[in-house]
Amino acid sequence: MAFDYPGKNRAYEAALSRTKECLSADDRENGLLFLEKAISLSDELRVNAAIAEFQARFAKENASLRKIKALLEEGKNPFLKKTQAVDGAPTSKDEEKKEGDSVTGFFSNEPPKTTLDDVAGLEAVKEQIRINVLLPLKDPELFYRYKSDAGARICMYGPPGCGKSFVAEAIAGELKCHYAVILVPDILDKYVGEAPKRIKAIFEEAEKYENVLLFFDEIDAMCSSRDSDESTHTKDILTTFLTCMSGFKPKGKSLKVIIGATNRPWALDSALIRGQRLDTAIYVGLPDEKARQFFVDKEFAKHKEAYEGSDLTKEYCVEALDGFSGADIKTIFEQAATRTLRRVLDDKLPKGQYYKIAKADFDAALKAHHNPVTAESLLRYAAFEKGMPQ
Ligand SMILES: Nc1ncnc2c1ncn2[C@@H]1O[C@H](COP(=O)(O)OP(=O)(O)OP(=O)(O)O)[C@@H](O)[C@H]1O
Ligand SMILES: [Mg+2]
Repeated sequence: MAFDYPGKNRAYEAALSRTKECLSADDRENGLLFLEKAISLSDELRVNAAIAEFQARFAKENASLRKIKALLEEGKNPFLKKTQAVDGAPTSKDEEKKEGDSVTGFFSNEPPKTTLDDVAGLEAVKEQIRINVLLPLKDPELFYRYKSDAGARICMYGPPGCGKSFVAEAIAGELKCHYAVILVPDILDKYVGEAPKRIKAIFEEAEKYENVLLFFDEIDAMCSSRDSDESTHTKDILTTFLTCMSGFKPKGKSLKVIIGATNRPWALDSALIRGQRLDTAIYVGLPDEKARQFFVDKEFAKHKEAYEGSDLTKEYCVEALDGFSGADIKTIFEQAATRTLRRVLDDKLPKGQYYKIAKADFDAALKAHHNPVTAESLLRYAAFEKGMPQ
């Protein structure tokens, strides 16, 4: 029977909303049930999605839901007010007020577990971070001998799925600092007319922490319509953002890291990426051979027995995955594994007998995968990098 995409999608939305409802009321038992349902549905929707955009969306949502599940398993409920979620202490009046402003909600209670060692390639970003952010913490004597301000203001740009959000998370993981992810289009949609106030509040909240990382994703959303007629609102947002950013500086030896990310760097207002603002623009492109080797090694190590002795070799994968983003590479391996699993189930192998993930499984997954990164888009990024008009 054909996969009922709209039906599954409705079931998924319903499971999401029930999860939220239950967890907000601290009904963990039912919350977890609905959450597990949402996780499995998002997986099904991802596997059966015909377009890569949807695959990426459900992969992303699935990852966030799994994070929530991990938190619940650690006894934390991210849907409850901050302090209670962390240590069971009651929330103070002040914190309740802040929650009401929906600003503290952007900040994670806990640094992510990801570190720079989990990131394939992206050497330019890592280098910036190692020198300007990690060194001042590790060896302040050396750092401040040469430089006066620690921290970084980076704008990452490039095709989807190449690790912009992931590396930001890894930086927060390295710093073990407070970390806020602000999806700019969300702020614009959710707080129509209020967005500048929200942005200001986010920076004010960030000022309270000694070391903090603000990650503004899809940052082009606050710039793109600046020249159009209905742009007053967007203009206000950008102006507020720029003003806040100018004041967001390390004091003493604290660390303030601000990262913006976009797929459309050409849409950015030049004021955003000049000196003192997001002054370091870094292209985050498709993984090179070394980075692909990293993904392949990781995958083969993770499912050692499934690959050992297979006709699928690492060398072949590294070569065949040229032109795919990190996110796509992960999806292709996942799809190949699903194909092998299906074969095991279809052939009703006796318990204890398995198939290897074969070259044919991998090739079929590769062939079925639509690559969202086109040659045309890569040319556009290359032209932007060279400062050519768009
Ligand atoms: N360089 C990389 N190293 C390790 N994992 C990566 C890398 N690039 C992508 N991934 C994997 O792919 C997933 C998606 O990548 P991510 O969301 O960071 O891409 P992005 O560049 O932010 O894409 P978008 O432009 O769509 O927001 C990550 O969660 C990670 O699992
Ligand atoms: Mg991203």
